[in-house]
Amino acid sequence: MTTPRPLIYAANWKMHHGPGAARGFLTRFLDLTRPVEGRSLWFFPPAVSLAAACEAMVGRNDISVGAQNVHWEPKGAFTGELSLPLVTEVGARLALVGHSERRHLFGETNEQVGRKVAAALKAGVTPLVCVGETLAEREAGRTENVVVRQVDAIVERVPAAEWHRVVIAYEPVWAIGTGKNATPDDAAQVHHLIRFELSRRGVEQRVPILYGGSVNQGNVLGLLAREELDGVLVGGASLDADGWAELVGLGG
Ligand code: 13P
Repeated sequence: MTTPRPLIYAANWKMHHGPGAARGFLTRFLDLTRPVEGRSLWFFPPAVSLAAACEAMVGRNDISVGAQNVHWEPKGAFTGELSLPLVTEVGARLALVGHSERRHLFGETNEQVGRKVAAALKAGVTPLVCVGETLAEREAGRTENVVVRQVDAIVERVPAAEWHRVVIAYEPVWAIGTGKNATPDDAAQVHHLIRFELSRRGVEQRVPILYGGSVNQGNVLGLLAREELDGVLVGGASLDADGWAELVGLGG
């Protein structure tokens, strides 16, 4: 029997599910699912629900929890921010970095994203770094240029030897929350480009690259049929425990 290819199913709950709802979700989700070889289930609840989520999933090695955003400084006068030591204290092992909503709604720059990735690695936290172009950038034929610049900002701060701990999510901004997902071919093409550019920069390890943007039960299998994709990062379709359990179970 061949070993299944490792796949990551990441749920970004954005500004949904307080501690009570997070606990309720995970209790139900744990009932509905069993660990599957090669399948990792990642949850990014809002910061106030991190501790509840970490407590609820104890005993399930296939599940990890992460923060949706972190600051690069370990402490200091940064009102409203969360440091890596703060999130790891409650059990987070992952951090989402550079989500397009952080970049476009809150002005996060490539340089800040690079700093956050480096800080996460230093703190022993796995960064899931998001990259992706806007609709205007895609229509202007600038997808490659934008994505490569976003990746280069990380290459500048993360030595090649550390890249085996980095995970990337390609999330085209025009596909997020719009119901309009990239086709498997569109996604695979950008994933291939990212890998090619990383190897040109001496980053040899096989960095997992997830696809995100309007992934749902109807399109996930088509997307994951492309071997360039190592998993999915999902917003809306991850908010309901039954629906999410069904989606992560579709692959076997
Ligand atoms: P949707 O799945 O709701 O399009 O959101 C994608 C996303 O932003 C995940 O980080």
